[in-house]
This record gives sequence, C-alpha cells and structure tokens, in this order.
Amino acid sequence: MKPTYILGIESSCDDTSAAVLRDGVVLSNIIAGQKVHEKYGGVVPELASRAHQQNIVPVIDIAIKEAGINKEDLSAIAFTRGPGLLGSLLVATSFTKGLSRALDIPMVEVNHLQAHVLAHYVKQDENDTEQPGFPHICLLVSGGNSQIVLVKNYDDMEIIGQTIDDAAGEAFDKCAKVMGLPYPGGPIIDKLAQEGNPEAFEFNKPKLPGLNYSFSGLKTSFLYFLRDQLKENKHFIEENKADLAASLQKTIIDILLGKLKRAMRETGVTEISVGGGVSANSGLRNELTTLAQKHRWKLHLPPLSFTTDNAAMVAITGHYKYLKQEFVSYNVVPYSRATI
Ligand code: KG4
Repeated sequence: MKPTYILGIESSCDDTSAAVLRDGVVLSNIIAGQKVHEKYGGVVPELASRAHQQNIVPVIDIAIKEAGINKEDLSAIAFTRGPGLLGSLLVATSFTKGLSRALDIPMVEVNHLQAHVLAHYVKQDENDTEQPGFPHICLLVSGGNSQIVLVKNYDDMEIIGQTIDDAAGEAFDKCAKVMGLPYPGGPIIDKLAQEGNPEAFEFNKPKLPGLNYSFSGLKTSFLYFLRDQLKENKHFIEENKADLAASLQKTIIDILLGKLKRAMRETGVTEISVGGGVSANSGLRNELTTLAQKHRWKLHLPPLSFTTDNAAMVAITGHYKYLKQEFVSYNVVPYSRATI
C-alpha cells in the first residue's frame, strides 16, 4: 500500500515548525525559535507574526528536504488552527491554503492542545511501540495550559481538571521574572533548583476542591515573600537564588501531582503521559517517575524535543484525521481560543 506522508505546520505562538511523518514515523521535525521576544520578558504578538512570515518558507523547505521526499509525495498538510495568537496562526493557515492548492492535496485542521496530547503517538521508527494505550491520563502543562485530560481515543478526550487562573508555566515564568530572571524563566528555575534546597522556603498551596488547579495565589505569595525579605536584606534574592528556585519548583510540582494522584484514583486509570513545555522540567520528571513506580502506573515521558511546541505533534494529529478523511475547505479561519 502507498505510504501516507503528512506535512505538519505549527505557528501558534513563537515557534515556527514543520515536520514530515511517513505512516506516523517522524522523518523530520524542524523548529525555528524567536529570540526577538527575550528583551521584552514575554512573547510580543506582532513580532511573532512577522518572524513566522520570515521563517515559514525555509523551515518547510528544510523539513521536506530532511525527510528525503519531494513535495509531490505529500498526502496532506496538517496545520494548527488554534488556540493561539491569531496573527501567528494566520501564517500557517494561509501558507497551508496556498501549498495545498498548488499541490492539489487536502488540508487537515489541528487543535494545538490535542496535538500536545497526541505527541506521544509519533513513532521514532517503524519498530517504536511505546505509544500509550486508551484510556490514559495526560497531564498537559505549558505556558498557557494546565489540564488533566482523560484520553479515551485519538479524537475523544475529556478535560477532567484545569487551572482556573494561571498555568503552571506562567507560575514558573512570572515568579522567575520577580526574581529578575529573563524570559522564559521555567528552564532557568529548573537549572537553579538542581543546586538548591527544596525545603528552604514554604509557599502557599491552593485548597481547591475537585481536580482544578490554581497558581495565581502562589505567584502573589512568592511576590510578597520576596518583597518582605528584600526590606531586610537587599541581596536576599542573589544570596538565596538556588534555594528560592528549588522551593518554588517543589511547590509547583506538589500542586500538579496532588491533583494528578486524585485523578488517577478517581478514574481508576493506570497509564499516564505528560505533555507541554513544563513536562521538560527535570524535577517534575523525577517525581513522576518515583510516583509511577510506587503506584505501578505505566508512565510515558516525551522526548525533550517533543515537550515544547513542534510540528511533529501537529502532523500525527493530522495523520489520524487524514485516515478518517476529515478535511477542511479553503474558507477555514484560525481561532484564538478553544478547548480540547
Ligand atoms: O508548551 P510550550 O512550549 O508553549 C506555550 O504554552 O507557550 O510551554 C512553554 C512553557 C513556558 O512557560 C516555559 O517556562 C515552560 O514551558 N518550560 C519549563 C521548562 N521548559 C519549558 N518550565 C519548567 N521547567 C522547564 N525545564
């Protein structure tokens, strides 16, 4: 049978990415980040759209070349339709329309959040059988989302818990900013935490019923704590950087895993995956590994290159939709907000 080649395109935030899969096996996954936002302490939407415009042609060109195929071999193009920044999403959406018309192949729309969950189904090679089964629970933790998702099938997912305010990644980034660290602060906190004592300081944990999260209280408590300490000692942050990072990271992980344990208990599910940028956090990975061993859960940790935004996850989501012939027409427009 003729293989299925899917080109995936991702431009929902500040990473321009293109990937090619052959029957679900990744042949290429190219990601161009955008350094331009660093000095602003966060993503500037207008600058992101412009950088996507500059990056998209070379990124797709390299993805196709690295996959060792010709563009005429492609079966379909999958693109992120949303949620995300509208100006950024328009770049992949419009480019997909043009390329699909030129090649006369169908377009498949992809929900970015579903794609993060399905990143685990991208095969590294033909013999890769590490994909999670159904149902399983996915902890989706990124800069924009913190959700506990019950994954019943490729196209059947239910959010059973989510943040009512900030996302876990935002908590990392905003607290890092208060410490004077550059954006994005999550990876820097992770690195500093490895040298620090996680029990050095204690910060507020929310007491929310059910499976929902809240991180805004932690951010405020962290801010007030630092403000008070700085009154006494203006070098407090500098002198306690590693301990602050380790204690903050431990608090965020405790909050995340507390609700996750409850979700596993309430659903009776025993298989678990984690996705989104924060799933790169080494402390979270270690704690999850220990927890999974203790409870005999089957744990799926994504390769680091699949934790942040990437087009391989878009292509695999598109692959399963392609098999069901779920295509969209040329009047499709992006959406900035959506759930799974
Ligand atoms: O999924 P993602 O790339 O995209 C957005 O949702 O925008 O996630 C980015 C988030 C940022 O908040 C970043 O600080 C966080 O993931 N992040 C980390 C780590 N690597 C990335 N947070 C903690 N530890 C890390 N190692």
